[in-house]
Amino acid sequence: MARRYFCTALAVLLLLDVPAFSTSKGLKGKEHQRASRIPSQFSLEERVTMKETLKGAIQIPTVSFSPRESNRTALAEFGEYMYKAFPTVFRTSFIQHEVVGEYSHLFTVQGSDPHLQPYMLLAHIDVVPAPDQGWEVPPFSGLERDGFIYGRGTLDNKNAVMAILQALELLLIRNYIPRRSFYIALGHDEEVSGADGAQKISALLQARGVQLAFLVDEGGFITDGFIPSFTKPVAMIAVSEKGILNLMLQVNMTTGHSAAPPKETSIGILAAAVSRLEQTPMPNMFGSRPLTMTLQQLANEFPFPTNIVMNNLWLFGPFVSRSLERSPLTNALVRTTTAVTVFHSGVKENVIPPVAQAIVNFRIHPTQTGQEVLELAKNIVADDRVQFRVLGASDPLPVSPSDDQALGYQLIRQTLQSVFPEVNIVVPGICIGITDSRHYSNLTTGIYRFNPIYLQPQDFLSFHGINEKISVQGYETQVKFIFEFIQNADADQRPVPHLHEL
Ligand SMILES: *[C@@H]1O[C@H](CO)[C@@H](O)[C@H](O)[C@H]1NC(C)=O
Ligand SMILES: *[C@@H]1O[C@H](CO)[C@@H](O)[C@H](O)[C@H]1NC(C)=O
Ligand SMILES: *[C@@H]1O[C@H](CO)[C@@H](O)[C@H](O)[C@H]1NC(C)=O
Repeated sequence: MARRYFCTALAVLLLLDVPAFSTSKGLKGKEHQRASRIPSQFSLEERVTMKETLKGAIQIPTVSFSPRESNRTALAEFGEYMYKAFPTVFRTSFIQHEVVGEYSHLFTVQGSDPHLQPYMLLAHIDVVPAPDQGWEVPPFSGLERDGFIYGRGTLDNKNAVMAILQALELLLIRNYIPRRSFYIALGHDEEVSGADGAQKISALLQARGVQLAFLVDEGGFITDGFIPSFTKPVAMIAVSEKGILNLMLQVNMTTGHSAAPPKETSIGILAAAVSRLEQTPMPNMFGSRPLTMTLQQLANEFPFPTNIVMNNLWLFGPFVSRSLERSPLTNALVRTTTAVTVFHSGVKENVIPPVAQAIVNFRIHPTQTGQEVLELAKNIVADDRVQFRVLGASDPLPVSPSDDQALGYQLIRQTLQSVFPEVNIVVPGICIGITDSRHYSNLTTGIYRFNPIYLQPQDFLSFHGINEKISVQGYETQVKFIFEFIQNADADQRPVPHLHEL
């Protein structure tokens, strides 16, 4: 997930901020039980190859340093590595491979049934920088220790890149021919914008008139242990992500000598403006129906007395809302957040500086737009000596459907049931970070962010931090999940009651 837009989203409390909670039905493939279905069982040799191939991918330092600076040698090398690692994918006649924007990759897998609408699997091959300091093993070593593979990209997001291609490779080796067409899009600059990768792939597909049934990207997990009193694992499929507004504030005053200073300087005026923004949070959006509905749906999963509180939001709503505001992570769920990230002014100790500039980074709540946040910010500052300039903005994405008819959502849920039978709670959630999937909003209304791996609070810190790692078992299960998912997407879909009612 993009660094500057870090998807810290993933605390389980995120699942509280969701649009709907589907309890009734799911989809189940008729072909689920068919003999032609290929079981997701891999030989010892395949399992060894699988993890060694991931380690090799981690060893290539495909770092995005800034929007203009990345390790191009490594990005090129990664393309060759995929080619060697997944020979069957590259030589299969019904799979077309294209390089887009120099280093991103688009695979078009032509299914046998042209009547089925295609879908897309998304991941990114670039990673954020990783200085050696603090790591138990060098971050680009891909070393295995105590059942874990360490390294930058093991969670974000080479695990997905490799698992998707690995699962496809294994299916093809078993002579599987997909019915439903699908795309695999692997961006190379997600961590810095996606402008050269995802955006170009999306434009290419739009030019070809492609419409997708849905797409699956990173951004949600099976969360475990995030709420102390909540003992069961929860699969959170993010159905929306917050937007972003980078706003520059600037004050120009006349310059002068510090021996005879004016009453107010650009620094003082701007500091006051920035301070007002910090002191005046954007409105709390708690109480919009999706969130309260989900709290009620989850209510009985909580122990006493939280269950009573959650069951009676008509009474305890303000209390719950205030308690969510207390921690930065849950506060991000109930409002547009305000972060002052840059402040520049001054050149010399005895000169009154003419200009002061600050940048404020807002993360926009799904119920608001960038324009609304800009107006609110101007009203809070309420000083026309402060000029505003929008440096970049991206509105929150619309909430993708998660009802019984939502194919992508239900396929993820169905696959969870077979691959993670112990996970009985599946909820739609929101990603407070930003992913490549936002570039594809013209292609589909079904955008789901879900990585089929367990995430515990301590893992959370390793995203863009130190000692990022994935268990060998967790990675195998991810491959298995995609192996099953592709087959599920090919089965005839019909709604059936789902087994795990809350
Ligand atoms: C870029 O990647 C290559 C390997 O592809 C590596 O040898 C080199 O050290 C990397 N450069 C930087 C600055 O990380
Ligand atoms: C304010 O100062 C900046 C930097 O010197 C300059 O680019 C800008 O044009 C000035 N704006 C006004 C309104 O004077
Ligand atoms: C979506 O399509 C509209 C109209 O063609 C276009 O202006 C816009 O840039 C597209 N958005 C994306 C994210 O591709």
